[in-house]
Amino acid sequence: MEIKKIIDNLLKKKSPDELIAVSKKTELKKTLNVFDLIVIGIGAVVGTGIFTIIGAAIMGSSESPGAGPAIVISMLLAAIACVFSALCYSEIAAMLPVAGSAYTYTYATMGEFMAWMVGWILMLEYAIGNITVASAWTGYFIQFMKGFKQYMPDFVLNFPLWLRYDYRAMGEICHRYGWDIHDKIPYIFGHIPFSINLPAITIVLILTILLVRGVKESTRVASIMVGVNMFMIISFIIIGSKYVKPENWTPFFPTYEPLQGVLMGTFLIFFAYIGFDAISTTAEETENPQKDLPIAILGTLVICTILYVSVALVLTGIVPVNKIDIQAPIAHAMSYIGKDWFAGLISVGALCALTSVLLIYQLGTTRILYAISRDRFLPKSWRLIHKKFRTPHVMTWISGAVVIICGLFMDLKISAELCNFGTFTSFVIICLAVLILRKTEPNRARPFKVPFCPWFPIAGIVICGVLIISSLKTLKTSSVYFALWLVIGLLIYALYGYRQKRLEEQPKKIIKK
Ligand code: ALA
Repeated sequence: MEIKKIIDNLLKKKSPDELIAVSKKTELKKTLNVFDLIVIGIGAVVGTGIFTIIGAAIMGSSESPGAGPAIVISMLLAAIACVFSALCYSEIAAMLPVAGSAYTYTYATMGEFMAWMVGWILMLEYAIGNITVASAWTGYFIQFMKGFKQYMPDFVLNFPLWLRYDYRAMGEICHRYGWDIHDKIPYIFGHIPFSINLPAITIVLILTILLVRGVKESTRVASIMVGVNMFMIISFIIIGSKYVKPENWTPFFPTYEPLQGVLMGTFLIFFAYIGFDAISTTAEETENPQKDLPIAILGTLVICTILYVSVALVLTGIVPVNKIDIQAPIAHAMSYIGKDWFAGLISVGALCALTSVLLIYQLGTTRILYAISRDRFLPKSWRLIHKKFRTPHVMTWISGAVVIICGLFMDLKISAELCNFGTFTSFVIICLAVLILRKTEPNRARPFKVPFCPWFPIAGIVICGVLIISSLKTLKTSSVYFALWLVIGLLIYALYGYRQKRLEEQPKKIIKK
């Protein structure tokens, strides 16, 4: 009896009408139009993936093979994996324009427990993904500083390594160069090692303050940065295309483990596409969500795919695969053809791109936490709205703190892989949610419908599922972290969320009596 009751509670759903009613009472300002949404989309999508991770996806690592020039195929595969989920996001976001993205949609389709777990997994995508971006930001920041060598004071140029890298990354660097870590970092009270990524922490702090001041203000800053980075990417394609040597594309597929290389390339470069779903997290702040959300989601995906494939063709066309730089491949490609001045400008574009991704991801984290806390899974005090700026300021500070604290012990590669695991899982759930809602709510108005349903959502589930399973086998460290993340989420729900939900139901019972 007791077990049946618990299972019923775990499966308790929120009706779509209830979700819409709650969202109508939102205290958030409705200020975003379709242009703002596409800026949010491109700002969230174009970043670390195309400026940094593309190098690792082409070259591979000790744990996984690379895709070589066939990275273009990996990119198209990643885009296909995204398109099915993007269509599903568009259908649900237009039908249920409420904050919380996949979390809220899962609540309406699979019940309370799955909703919490999806919300928790989304934190991998948004907060942990931000650690990847913040780490890459430091790399480009240092490169940018080097470009102004003659104007910079000595302490900036010789910035100590223990203020540039987190402890884990510092350990790897010391290992690589055969240094003793004890000689390279200071110890607090003689025992506690101190090594932090100060530029990453600083940029996250600045963006947190900006977000507390307002969404419109933040997207205005993002739109300037998106403009700059688009200009740099398009210039890279135009200038670089004149130096392409088609013989660099041969062999096109890696000679060693070609299929695994392309699949691992797809898994890694998928990070470059993550972000279009951030558009749906701002549904409650959109003026005309039914029409604008699908246009913005699909538009962003199409624009980014065209840009990425062009960048990959130019990059692998001008630099032979074994000479591609892992840390700053795009800027290095320009130095490779003797255009050092343009390599410096690429760093500016990359910094703008990474900053806008950080900004928008933090916006996404906050809005998802807001929706989760509104459902009592997290403390009510977290969603206090700032009296003057009308933004969820407590939540914004908490999400900034999570990035800073987790960034102290997670490096770029692990956080990127974890983020990908989280995103693939949420994509599978979104495709499932469309199938379920078509059955449970067949008559609800759908301003946008996924074509060829159920085949497109099923294709999304299969592609994302295959990529998760094939990567779980290869990427051992992040697979363990992923499992650990799920267990921690489960415990928080069992020890806090479940009880809070039951307490929430208590007064209703008393009123009924
Ligand atoms: N797609 C985003 C990036 O590449 C997460 O940084």
